[in-house]
Amino acid sequence: MGYIDIAAVSYALPDGRPLLDEVSFRVGEGSTTALIGQNGGGKTTLLRIVRGEIAPHGGVVSIDGGLGVMDQFVGHGAAGQTVHDLLISVAPDRVRRAARELEDAEAAIIEHDDLDTQMRYAGALADYAEAGGYEYETVWDTCTAAALGIPFSRARFRELTTLSGGEQKRLALEALLRGPDQVLLLDEPDNYLDVPGKRWLEERLRETPKTVLLVSHDRELLARAADRIATLEVGGAGSTAWVHGGGFGTYHRARDERMARLDELRRRWDEQHVKLKELVATLKVKATANDSFTSRYRAAQTRLRKFEEAGPPQERPPEQDLALRLRGARTGSAPWSPSSSN
Ligand SMILES: Nc1ncnc2c1ncn2[C@@H]1O[C@H](COP(=O)(O)OP(=O)(O)OP(=O)(O)O)[C@@H](O)[C@H]1O
Ligand SMILES: [Mg+2]
Repeated sequence: MGYIDIAAVSYALPDGRPLLDEVSFRVGEGSTTALIGQNGGGKTTLLRIVRGEIAPHGGVVSIDGGLGVMDQFVGHGAAGQTVHDLLISVAPDRVRRAARELEDAEAAIIEHDDLDTQMRYAGALADYAEAGGYEYETVWDTCTAAALGIPFSRARFRELTTLSGGEQKRLALEALLRGPDQVLLLDEPDNYLDVPGKRWLEERLRETPKTVLLVSHDRELLARAADRIATLEVGGAGSTAWVHGGGFGTYHRARDERMARLDELRRRWDEQHVKLKELVATLKVKATANDSFTSRYRAAQTRLRKFEEAGPPQERPPEQDLALRLRGARTGSAPWSPSSSN
């Protein structure tokens, strides 16, 4: 259920460098769409815009359904962060807000036990219950059992630093996939997962009815879990998006065909341009010798001017290093580029 609609989103970095140039695509209900592209191309920034953390300089994003988000660096939090903190960070909005307020109110009452803090604490407890916090703890129980093999009550205060990166990702993913949010943004969810963990994630993504937009550099995950692929292509005016409406199995061919089509359109434009310039030059000579050619000469000049003003078709994007890697390879050590075999 739910969808994400990204319409003509543009964004420039604080130093003025354009990063996103009218990026448009839709993640339809129930789709698992992968967002790929070279390192630094703007994938994480686009996800931050989609979640409303930063505002685009142009364009709009519409989302239907509750939004759950997993950051690229989930779990790389400050020392002292616990399993409970991680689970709160990926909980549905209402539960997250109520749980944070409850934690703050608890901390306040430890500092000063006066009437005001007692009232605040009582209010926070009531709000937590109202938000469904206690019911939601049963979901957390299932998640810690699945990811860590222990109930929530035992995992709750464990520091995240005692968990591996893979365990942290798995825990956050369990919570998002089992939770009620219908639209998920997952930034490199497979990073740090071992091979069985990646397989598990592919399975879950294939069977979930949720609408998912995920960033991944893992070719096997893309092949097994994504039904559509949006590529951010880096260009001088920022990255633009090209969407392949099928899975990764047909991606390379579609991309080659698209490049060939862009080349062909450009070739035809250049040919037409040469012809129009020749026509103008010929008519100019004729008009000098014979007045009856003057109006045709002017008409040809106008055609050429309009043709040049409309400009050439979209340039073929430069070769991209999409930084896709084979399973088991370490980040960036086996980059894939469109020219290499797949
Ligand atoms: N707050 C910021 N201030 C300045 N530069 C930024 C900021 N956020 C991102 N950038 C820059 O914007 C570019 C895009 O970064 P982003 O993290 O969106 O790319 P990405 O496609 O997610 O890359 P990766 O594949 O490495 O995760 C990078 O050059 C990055 O250094
Ligand atoms: Mg990123």
